[in-house]
Amino acid sequence: MWRVLVTDEMKLGRTEGLPAAVDYRPGMPREEILEAIGDYDALITRSRTRVDAELLARAKRLKVIGRGGVGVDNIDLEAASRRGILVVNVPEANTRSAAELAFGLLLAAARGIALSDRKLRAGEWDRKFLGRELLGKTLGIVGLGRIGSQVAKFAKGFDMKVLAYDPYIPRSRAEKLGVELLDELEDLLRRSDFLTVHTPLTEETRGMIGRRELYLLPRGAVVVNAARGGIIQEEALLEVLNEGHLFAAGIDVFAEEPPKKDHPLIHHPKVVHTAHLGANTAEAQTRVGEEVLKRVIAALEGEIAYAINAGFDPEAFRALRGFVPLGERLGKLLAQITRGRVQAVEVAFFGEFEADPEPVATAVAKGLLERVLSEGVNLIAARPLLKERGIALSVRKVPEAQGYTQLVEVRLQTDKEERTARGTVLGGQPRLVGIDGYPLESVLEGTFLVCKNYDRPGVVGQVGTLLGEAGVNIAGLQLGRDRPGGKALFVLSVDERPEEGVLKSLEALELLERVDVAEL
Ligand code: NAD
Ligand code: MLT
Repeated sequence: MWRVLVTDEMKLGRTEGLPAAVDYRPGMPREEILEAIGDYDALITRSRTRVDAELLARAKRLKVIGRGGVGVDNIDLEAASRRGILVVNVPEANTRSAAELAFGLLLAAARGIALSDRKLRAGEWDRKFLGRELLGKTLGIVGLGRIGSQVAKFAKGFDMKVLAYDPYIPRSRAEKLGVELLDELEDLLRRSDFLTVHTPLTEETRGMIGRRELYLLPRGAVVVNAARGGIIQEEALLEVLNEGHLFAAGIDVFAEEPPKKDHPLIHHPKVVHTAHLGANTAEAQTRVGEEVLKRVIAALEGEIAYAINAGFDPEAFRALRGFVPLGERLGKLLAQITRGRVQAVEVAFFGEFEADPEPVATAVAKGLLERVLSEGVNLIAARPLLKERGIALSVRKVPEAQGYTQLVEVRLQTDKEERTARGTVLGGQPRLVGIDGYPLESVLEGTFLVCKNYDRPGVVGQVGTLLGEAGVNIAGLQLGRDRPGGKALFVLSVDERPEEGVLKSLEALELLERVDVAEL
């Protein structure tokens, strides 16, 4: 039974009867996590738990990390990938709650709700505060993804004009929402009475709104950050608020969480805060908890479609189902029959595939490495590991079909030789349809002898006799040749791997150039 550790608060639903034992330890201190993690197959977190290289180095059994939410900036994805750990998240589960909080902060900042509340508690009945109405104002949204789009809909309901800056979305998304999509962040800032950011925290977005950007906003603007601390520079925000250029700000997230007690923004009268509560509604946490647990268990069972560090689109992966094992087996076959130190691999796709066949190339990489690495390798780790070994992987896509509607050709280059294998999927099964340019057709499972010979009578018979004497049963035979009397290649599928002595006797046969064994 798998062991799953949950270190952050969420509602997991029923955990009985699952193929995993779930330890729910919300708020577990880092030191304890570091000590315990070696015993777990999966870890489920929200944004509080830092899943860094130090933690991963201790996570000897870890196969899956589940992120209960969207942002994975607390997870070292590269280190996880190198270790073949799948990272799954549930990006859609808290969209509505996060958007509602962002809009709540915008209203609270515009109307001084927190300030008035504080004054009343202190016994002060202050009715002098003049807020800002939303009607007819312009809201600038940086990042028009799931949450940004939902905020745009709310803003429309408040009769606001909505602008967005997001260089990574199609114009049609903005058009559908009735949002004006701008090509330059500066243009958006110059026109926004209200600004809200909804991007992930990346190298590009960290600190993207600084002093200069805040001064581009019209005087009296209101700023909201319910995405990630650090997208709006905290020091700059503080200065610009103090200098009176901004009216107010609403903040849910901090560069360092929890922030220090004396963090100057927290005590600023013009700022309303929440403690990273964007996703904290009962509804969102039920959706998040139940779904992340489901995805983590599916991932433990081998489903990688939701792994965000695989770089696959889940739909594409499903559409390519039969070709992924084909790629893996072609890689595994070539790794065993090609001699020398591997230098490069090329995967060529001929014909029209239902989805981008890139994952098949990753499967080739997995197949190549599988017999080399003692700890095994999965689709997540395959490409980073190949790169680490200095093996170049290139992909070629040729829309014209070559004999078969869809054909995958893998070419493996070593310091000694180059070999190719071709395959396709027939009736849902991976099939080998050629080696080194010799056409043949064979299933791709079990043990094979790949024999290169001179096309003369009697070769196959001699091989059969030797194998028979050694007690090795032949299950199938496929022949391919370039021309009568020239060079030829045949593939024998056998019930077991012949011993080294038998292989040596085979290679000593005059008409046989070489024999290689592959176990798939
Ligand atoms: P999403 O992926 O649907 O949207 C993010 C958008 O940002 C995308 O459209 C992307 O194209 C855009 N973007 C990326 N880089 C950009 C850049 N440099 N400039 C402009 N746009 C850029 O994600 P989402 O579900 O909308 O969530 C957005 C972020 O909100 C998450 O990454 C997370 O950090 C944060 N979040 C916070 C809370 C909270 O509790 N406060 C809850 C959920 C999500
Ligand atoms: C998220 O990225 O989903 C949020 O930060 C939610 C959270 O973990 O609280």
